[in-house]
Amino acid sequence: MTPDLLQQGAQRVAQHAQYLSESTESGGRDAGYGRVLHDRHEVDVSHGRILYLEDVSVSFDGFKAINKLSLDIAPGELRCIIGPNGAGKTTMMDIITGKTRPDEGTVFFGSTIDLLRHNEPEIAQLGIGRKFQKPTVFEHLTVFENLELALKTNKGVKASMFFKLDSTQSDRLAEVLHTIHLAGSVSALAGVLSHGQKQWLEIGMLLMQDPKLLLLDEPVAGMTDHETERTAELFLSLKGKHSLMVVEHDMSFIRTLGGTVTVLCDGSVLAQGTLDQVQADERVIEVYLGR
Ligand SMILES: Nc1ncnc2c1ncn2[C@@H]1O[C@H](COP(=O)(O)OP(=O)(O)O)[C@@H](O)[C@H]1O
Ligand SMILES: [Mg+2]
Repeated sequence: MTPDLLQQGAQRVAQHAQYLSESTESGGRDAGYGRVLHDRHEVDVSHGRILYLEDVSVSFDGFKAINKLSLDIAPGELRCIIGPNGAGKTTMMDIITGKTRPDEGTVFFGSTIDLLRHNEPEIAQLGIGRKFQKPTVFEHLTVFENLELALKTNKGVKASMFFKLDSTQSDRLAEVLHTIHLAGSVSALAGVLSHGQKQWLEIGMLLMQDPKLLLLDEPVAGMTDHETERTAELFLSLKGKHSLMVVEHDMSFIRTLGGTVTVLCDGSVLAQGTLDQVQADERVIEVYLGR
């Protein structure tokens, strides 16, 4: 199936590859996509931690959005993060991905990579993928083309036009299509997908890079109940192969995911444990869950 689709889409995809290479102002696009899978250094997780934050703080105009935040994640773990609006959840992801520089603290990927010494595209290249709240797929490209685009680097128009998936990449694409439940929509334009399917496609674009750590900010917001359930299945299938940090408000979704829940409040960890443990915590009920 792939060669036909590839040729049909080559020109349009090339235009988008150029768009990607030109729109690097925020670093956002290039941070997530547009990088290739090669020369990847292994992350040293011999200390049992893939992500490690210690005493991280950042202020915006004197307001401490992150305040002595310490948190760590094990390889293959699926960690849920909850907390009231303004707790600093998104800002924490901004710090991990290099979008925001903390004023102080330590942020390590594995035991040897100091993330504060890297910029946003480098951190993406190191194997940290990020899913923002809104889906940002290319609506007038097909599902296939969107996934293919995720493999391209800043090759320029010409190189992108003659870009061909090798067999490993084709296999990867087929595997990702299956994982994100879109194998039946490979030729559909992304624009006609449901909101949930667009979110899955964007997750698929991240998976094309085989990230070691995936950060997902409110991934099921706006999804139907059915889509939410499928997303939980998807994340559970990724657990173990990837480490995931999922920010969500949907408690039944978090319950399905299981695992450790970290409660953020006022820029630091208020509580951590199983969902039952944190839901029974008086301080958590006070600031977040309500009485
Ligand atoms: N770039 C920024 N400039 C100023 N204030 C910011 C910036 N980013 C976040 N904040 C503030 O930091 C706090 C934490 O925000 P955020 O991390 O988005 O919270 P959450 O994702 O938990 O809802 C909020 O009070 C927000 O207004
Ligand atoms: Mg947020």
